[in-house]
Amino acid sequence: MSKKPKLIVTRKLPFEVEARAMRDYDVSLNTKDTLYDTDSLLAACDGASAILACPTDNLSASVIKLLPHSIRIIANFSVGYDHVDIAAATSHGIMVTNTPDVLTDATADLTVMLLLGAARRASEGEALIRADKWDGWGPIHMCGTNVTGKNLGVIGMGRIGRAVAKRARGFSMCIHYHDEAPVPSEDDAGAIFHQNLDELLQISEFLTLHCPSTPQTYKLINADRIARMPKGAIIVNAARGDIVDDEALITAVRTGKIAGIGLDVYYNEPHLDPRYRSLENSFLMPHLGSATNETRDAMGFKALDNLDAFFIGNQPPNAVVDPLAL
Ligand code: DGY
Repeated sequence: MSKKPKLIVTRKLPFEVEARAMRDYDVSLNTKDTLYDTDSLLAACDGASAILACPTDNLSASVIKLLPHSIRIIANFSVGYDHVDIAAATSHGIMVTNTPDVLTDATADLTVMLLLGAARRASEGEALIRADKWDGWGPIHMCGTNVTGKNLGVIGMGRIGRAVAKRARGFSMCIHYHDEAPVPSEDDAGAIFHQNLDELLQISEFLTLHCPSTPQTYKLINADRIARMPKGAIIVNAARGDIVDDEALITAVRTGKIAGIGLDVYYNEPHLDPRYRSLENSFLMPHLGSATNETRDAMGFKALDNLDAFFIGNQPPNAVVDPLAL
């Protein structure tokens, strides 16, 4: 690269990632980690060639339309890219990239934590200790649900769904999944494919969501679909909040139809539906799926690899393709 491209980094990134960005780009870092609103983002982008963006950025069609023409690439520090209007970016000639693979294990680990935390009433137990209200062991005290031998329904058998399936096999769970098509048998960890989502729901004693947020998956888990699940089932979500209809899920937990939930993601983050907080049997995390030091470094390096490839004139390894252009 002769002249360093001007890069806008929208959030505070891990130290080594910022160091590499400073070495290779004319970079504007966000050292205070203050969220950019649209006006300040647009102002910051003036004269810049690239944005290193995060899921907290709003890069909707209306914002992309206003970006300076100098912006040629949005490199996301995330695998999910529902915060970017891909079609709008494509039509403005802006390349979009993401960071698949490197966060699969961390997110799958956290999903298993959600499954176990919801099944074994981890939040309630911890709250009891912290409030100094535990008065000792009891034969019927705070009993949860076994995961061993139970059916786990996986919606979306991509990288993370498969990694969760592999881990759940270690807990002797029986894995079933729904996706557009069966995955190759070497990747399915013995899981059983259900073309029909309702059929999967009917046998899912545990359900875990690993599909992307798209117009098709918006509120996929609604009252009608929850009604098809076994009574006392457990639902976990480490994908995106808008895949779940909050009203339906909260009602189902309140009526006992759903025995527990484990959530890492929420509609309208960080302003989740406050009713989740008052559900005893909810195990709630603040979008920490990929939050390990190793993973966040790897995500940052991958975002920079994509930028580097783009600016030397190659196709970035993780270019996101506008589905409408396929
Ligand atoms: C992603 O990469 O999409 C995650 O949600 C952020 O951890």
